[in-house]
Formats: sequence, C-alpha cells, structure tokens
Amino acid sequence: MITHLLTDHTGVEVIGVDLTAPLNDKIKSELIDAFHRHLVLVIRDQNLDAQQMLDAVRLFGEVFAQHNKRFSLADCPQIHYLSNEDHHSDGNRYIPGAGFHTDHSNAPEPPKATVLFARSLPETGGDTQFVNMYSAYDDLSDTIKLKIADLKAVHVYQSRHSTRKLMPLSEESQKDVLDSVVHPLVRTHPETGRKALYINPIRIEAIEGLPEPETLTLLDELLAHATQEKYQYRHKWRLGDLVMWDNRCLLHKANDDYDMTQLRYLYRVMLKGDKPI
Ligand code: SIN
Repeated sequence: MITHLLTDHTGVEVIGVDLTAPLNDKIKSELIDAFHRHLVLVIRDQNLDAQQMLDAVRLFGEVFAQHNKRFSLADCPQIHYLSNEDHHSDGNRYIPGAGFHTDHSNAPEPPKATVLFARSLPETGGDTQFVNMYSAYDDLSDTIKLKIADLKAVHVYQSRHSTRKLMPLSEESQKDVLDSVVHPLVRTHPETGRKALYINPIRIEAIEGLPEPETLTLLDELLAHATQEKYQYRHKWRLGDLVMWDNRCLLHKANDDYDMTQLRYLYRVMLKGDKPI
C-alpha cells in the first residue's frame, strides 16, 4: 500500500489496495490509522459492485441506516445513490449535498463516516470539497472559543434557515427520523481526543439559550471562518475512487458546476457513530 498526502492538513491517497480481496491485519490497521490522521481517505482504482462496496466498508465500522429511503438501491438497500438526474416536485433539479454540511447531524448518534464510490462522472467538475473543522476550531480566538464552549445546537431534518432545500423524507423514512436532537457546537473526537467545530447550516434550527438573530449571526461567522480556502481539500473525482471521510471533524459539499447532461452518479454508505460530546 502506497500513500500520498493530498494537502498538509486533510486527505490521503491510497494506491495498491484491492478492496475486493481479503486485507491482512497490517493493511487494515494502516487504513484505519490513515483515516484518523488525514480525515479523508481516497482509495484509488477500485472496481466494486454495490455488495462489494458494502462488504469493503464494514472494515471500518457498522453500517448506519441512511434517512431518506427514496434513494436506496433496490438490490442493496443499505446503499443509497447520489445522482444529478432527480428533480424536486417543482421541476428544479436536485443536487444532493450542494452546500457545506456534515451528514445526518439530526440523528442522536450521527454517522461517523460517509463513503462514496463513483460510478459515473461528468468530464469536468462535480468535485467534493471538504473543510477541516479541527483546524477551523484551533484557529478561533480564545474569546470565541469561550463563547461557544458550552453552546448546544438544535438539529432538525431541514432547518428553516437553510438556503438548500432537501428532498422530503419518504413516508417510510418519516417514522425513523426524530423531530430534533441537540448536539454541542464543539465536539471532542472519540478516537483522537481533538476538538472540532460541529455546525451544519442545513440542519441547525436554533442554539439553546441564544436569541435567533444572535444565533444566525454566530453561525454565519463560524461558517465563513471554517470554509476559508486554507482549511479545504477539494477532491477531483476519478472513476474507481472510493472516498471515505470523517463527519465528526469535517464539513463537505458537492459542486454543481458541470454539464448537467452528463451523469454524475455515486453509491453512498454511512457508518455508525457516537453521540457527539
Ligand atoms: C454528500 O453530501 O453526501 C454528497 C457529496 C458529493 O456528492 O460530492
């Protein structure tokens, strides 16, 4: 297994691993270690069907049941698809993941990781951008760190403050998704012990104890700070890439900057996580 860092803070490329073959303990622990150190694992040159992807990601944890079952694959329902070919009921195209967020933070125990496998890509564009929320937190002033240290945010499926409209939950999914959950604005990573900012513009509806105008100003400021280029890794997809990232210490977003007559289609799996603390 050969690895190359993709930036000096986030992302590592892995070459020479075949996820359809049994991996020995040394490779397994190197992959897990690389994931914790570099937060985005880009495993190149994979050739996986849905079931093989599912089997491969179980190396890193248990599969998390994704919320909106309308995107489940018929023959492998724990895998969902991401596609640029779905539309909202008003006819507008739905681009999943466009806008910085962390996945399913409206769950009491949000998924620790998300894994995508590219099946079809546009010729150019459609990158996934990541921001390192450890670094963003570390660089906050002491005054802001003190201010947010004990704040807790209310996360819902679709925040009324979100500028991005999600696809409504399927009827089947509605019963599985809680109305709201509360998570700290700063969380400590259970594996590394590092603190990370934990915000989500799509899902945060309120901050407990703060008036709404102050909440929105604070969240805007934190997002503007966190999404600065210096904290980013921008993944340019290649067919065969399996990309796994750590939702506990990253935000990510999909880009809709490509020719929409070209199909962008990926498989997505999530892995169970802990209650943020
Ligand atoms: C997502 O937010 O899960 C999708 C990211 C992407 O399509 O690049």
